Amino acid sequence: MSCPRPIAWTSTVDPEGVPNLAPFSYFTVASTDPPMLSLTIEKRDDGAPKDTAANIARTGEFVVDIVSEALGEAMAATSARLPAEDDEFAAAKTSAAPARHVVPARVAESPVSMECVLERSLPIGNALLVIGRAVCFHVCPDVMDEHGRIRHDRLRALGRIGGRYLGTADTFSLSSGRAGPDGADTR
Ligand SMILES: Cc1cc2nc3c(=O)[nH]c(=O)nc-3n(C[C@H](O)[C@H](O)[C@H](O)COP(=O)(O)O)c2cc1C
Repeated sequence: MSCPRPIAWTSTVDPEGVPNLAPFSYFTVASTDPPMLSLTIEKRDDGAPKDTAANIARTGEFVVDIVSEALGEAMAATSARLPAEDDEFAAAKTSAAPARHVVPARVAESPVSMECVLERSLPIGNALLVIGRAVCFHVCPDVMDEHGRIRHDRLRALGRIGGRYLGTADTFSLSSGRAGPDGADTR
């Protein structure tokens, strides 16, 4: 799809506790109250589940880290297929910080991390659609404004477009007919 998508840099553990980290751009908001997100994790060409899908199915937990421009190379390194027993935090030269409510670690350098528990999953086509409920948010104060809102121009999240990447520094507004009494729709 030639339109930018956010990237869910997703941390899981296998039942033995081995950490795994991989990016997924078939990723979006699924619900705002309670906060939920969805990932679409395709099967491998041989039909086997990717490590992330297998780990979420077995443990019911994951952490989604947002990828800032500075973390791009590290994130890309974790899309390589590594043996399941390899620690991808080490391969990406990132640090693991403990999560508060789930076992998988978060990426310490990520400006926004969302601890998730599996709400439900649905085998669909060649993929597993995973819906996670966010139970804890970690937001670096540097990317927030004085009202606690995330500023995209401080976050500088990477987007995925047509197999390439896009920054999110250049944005603009359109005069919207949907503005309510509280102002414009910010979705
Ligand atoms: C930016 C980016 C986005 C990706 N998005 C997806 C995706 O949405 N779904 C998917 O199945 N694979 C996606 N991949 C490929 C997975 O990251 C890759 O298959 C990875 O090896 C899976 O790791 P795992 O086996 O540790 O789960 C993406 C790769 C990159 C670099």
